[in-house]
Amino acid sequence: MKVLVTGSSGQVGQDLVDVLDGIVPPGGSSELQGSLEGKEFRVLGVTHHDLDITDASHVTNALERIRPDVVINLSAYTAVDRAESEFEAAELVNATAVGQLSRACASQGSRLITLSTDYVFDGRKGESYIESDSPNPQSAYGKTKWHGEQLCSPADTIVRTSWVMGVRGKTVGKVIADRAKNAETVRFVDDQRGTVTLASDLAVALATLALDPPGGVWHVANSGSATWFEVAQWIGELYGREDDFATAIKTTDLDPAPAAPRPTRSDLDTAKFASAYFALPDWREGLVRFVEGLR
Ligand SMILES: NC(=O)c1ccc[n+]([C@@H]2O[C@H](COP(=O)([O-])OP(=O)(O)OC[C@H]3O[C@@H](n4cnc5c(N)ncnc54)[C@H](OP(=O)(O)O)[C@@H]3O)[C@@H](O)[C@H]2O)c1
Repeated sequence: MKVLVTGSSGQVGQDLVDVLDGIVPPGGSSELQGSLEGKEFRVLGVTHHDLDITDASHVTNALERIRPDVVINLSAYTAVDRAESEFEAAELVNATAVGQLSRACASQGSRLITLSTDYVFDGRKGESYIESDSPNPQSAYGKTKWHGEQLCSPADTIVRTSWVMGVRGKTVGKVIADRAKNAETVRFVDDQRGTVTLASDLAVALATLALDPPGGVWHVANSGSATWFEVAQWIGELYGREDDFATAIKTTDLDPAPAAPRPTRSDLDTAKFASAYFALPDWREGLVRFVEGLR
């Protein structure tokens, strides 16, 4: 099984390359990864520098040369707030290039797995989102990711994930952990609910899908949902901080207000993935490993 991973220096990319190489990444679960025992992958990770996915002829040439069984596309324009003023740049990577990659994979005979986001939803449903719910993105980033999904073919596998935290990534989780360590305090919103996803756990899910990509849309995240305030409180607790570490605020209290609107409630229902494969561990257990990985 030859797997080409694009965007391999990103936070999910680094963990995925480790998992495919049989290495447990920092913060990873050897128990979860045990499900891949005996599965052999030949992995080639390519960074933005190696392969710019917006360069269609380079992508086609690379696929012809490498002939991967599966391409896992982790390349993305992920600066959610900056995308509000750089829509075209985000659209090029998150939509146009994904469509080109889908076509190149189809003509080469490779299966494509590509990542999307809970931000394709408007957050107004009032309960967790299943795969067949209608997207209605509110931010520029969410719109470009939804356009990318629409440019995929039914044979492609689209994995929507959310609130990703990798020990080697630039994540909110790390900011909270640093403040907790340094005797500082934090303020986080308690009116945005979502699903936390450990990059290492997502990587195991992606490797599992790569064994026989099923096609269609899949929601993948750790089990349970949380607000950002609850995430901050829990990380504080793991550093031995008391209740006064995290203060709950409202989105309207954020100053300056973020450029991109976030959905109020965009937690992903992961039952489809859990019944076909396995449930990812609870988010609190995942963050225990995340904090251990940081240490
Ligand atoms: N992080 C989250 O909370 C979250 C939530 C939901 C969904 N997702 C999705 O999950 C996937 C992985 O996210 P992540 O957190 O690993 O993001 P990340 O750390 O920002 O990694 C994205 C990678 O894409 C690369 N890249 C950007 N433009 C490229 C281009 N034109 N050609 C090739 N590579 C390019 C970046 O390289 P450079 O940095 O060198 O440009 C970076 O290595 C993305 O599809 C993202 O939309 C993430």
